[in-house]
Amino acid sequence: MRAFVIDSFGQTPHLRDLSVPEPGPGEVQIKVRTVAVNPIDWKVVAGALARPGADFPFPYTLGFDLAGQVTAAGEGAAFEVGQEVFGMRRPGTAAQHPHGSYAEYMTASADTVALAVRPDGLDAASAAALPMTGGTALALTRWLELPEGETLLVVGASGGVGSYVLQLAAARGVRVIAVAAGEDHDYARGLGAAEVIDYRSEDVADVVRTAHPAGVDAVLDLVDSRDVVTQKIAPLVRDGGRLATTVFAADPDALAAQGGRAINFNYQATDQDMAELAELATSGGLKVAETTIFMLAAMDEAYAASTSGHVRGELVITTD
Ligand SMILES: NC(=O)c1ccc[n+]([C@@H]2O[C@H](COP(=O)([O-])OP(=O)(O)OC[C@H]3O[C@@H](n4cnc5c(N)ncnc54)[C@H](OP(=O)(O)O)[C@@H]3O)[C@@H](O)[C@H]2O)c1
Repeated sequence: MRAFVIDSFGQTPHLRDLSVPEPGPGEVQIKVRTVAVNPIDWKVVAGALARPGADFPFPYTLGFDLAGQVTAAGEGAAFEVGQEVFGMRRPGTAAQHPHGSYAEYMTASADTVALAVRPDGLDAASAAALPMTGGTALALTRWLELPEGETLLVVGASGGVGSYVLQLAAARGVRVIAVAAGEDHDYARGLGAAEVIDYRSEDVADVVRTAHPAGVDAVLDLVDSRDVVTQKIAPLVRDGGRLATTVFAADPDALAAQGGRAINFNYQATDQDMAELAELATSGGLKVAETTIFMLAAMDEAYAASTSGHVRGELVITTD
C-alpha cells in the first residue's frame, strides 16, 4: 500500500510502498478513504514528537484525521468489519504507534485513535475535515465557557480550528471578532463573525481597543508567538477574562494576576467528541469548514499548502 512517510525528523515526506498493517487484539484495520492535513503534521516532521535519548520508530507514517471503512477486526475490537468510521489518532500515542492515516490502510485501537461511526448523512471528505479541528473547537468552547452576550476575539479565524470555533461561539449568542486576512472576511462572516479585522493591513490591538475599550471577555489565539500574545493580545482581555492559545503562547500566571485565567490548550480527543461532531454536522448545528480536496498522489502539494500557514478551512486528501 502507499503511505506518506518520513525516515528521520526534518526529512521531506514522501510516498512509499509499505505492507498493509494487520490488526492485533482490540484493534481494527481501516481502509482509509480520506484524511485531513493539519499543521501538527509538519510540526511532527520538524521533530515535535522527538524525545531526547529515545529512539523513534521510523518509518513514521504521517497523518491524524481520517475517515474510512473497517476491513478487519481483532478480538475484542470496538467496531465491526464493514462499518464506516471517522476520527483522529491521539498525538500522545503517535510515537508508540507510528502508523498514521496518510496511507491506504491503518490500524486503530481505543487507546490510539478516537473513533465514531460515520453516519450516512456525512460524506467521507467532510468527516475527515472534522476531528482534530472540530474536536479542538468543541473542547475550547467548553473551556472558554462563553455565555450569551460575551465578546470573543479569535486570531487565526479562517483556518481549520477557527472555522468551527466561530460557528460554535456565534451559536451561543457570543459576539465574535475574527482576525483574518481581508480575502477571508466574507468567509468569517458567513461562519458567524460579527466584526472582522485584517491583520495584514490593520493593527489588531488598536482596532480592538477602540471598539472595546473595557476589553473583550475572551480571546482565542491560534497563531501568534508568545511575545506577541504577551505584549499585544493578552492586554486586550478584560480583568477576569479568559485567554486560550493552541500554540503554547500564553502565560497563565500573567492572566491570573489580572484575575483571569489562561491556558496553553492541548486537545485530548475522545470518542464522545467524534460522535458529537457527527451529530452536529448532520443536524445542521455545524457547517463543515470549506474544504480543498487533493488526490493521494498530490499529497506533497497539500502538505506544502498546510506548511504555508495560510489555509482557509480544511485540506483533505482522498485515497480513491
Ligand atoms: N494544542 C492543540 O491541541 C492544537 C489542536 C489543534 C490545532 N493546534 C494548532 O493550532 C494552530 C491553528 O490550527 P489550524 O488547524 O486552525 O491551522 P490552519 O488551518 O493552518 O489555520 C491557521 C489560520 O491562521 C491564519 N493566519 C496566519 N497568520 C495569521 C496572523 N498573523 N493573524 C491572523 N491569522 C493568521 C491563516 O490564514 P491567512 O493568513 O490566509 O488568514 C489560517 O487561516 C496550528 O498551529 C495547530 O498546530 C493545536
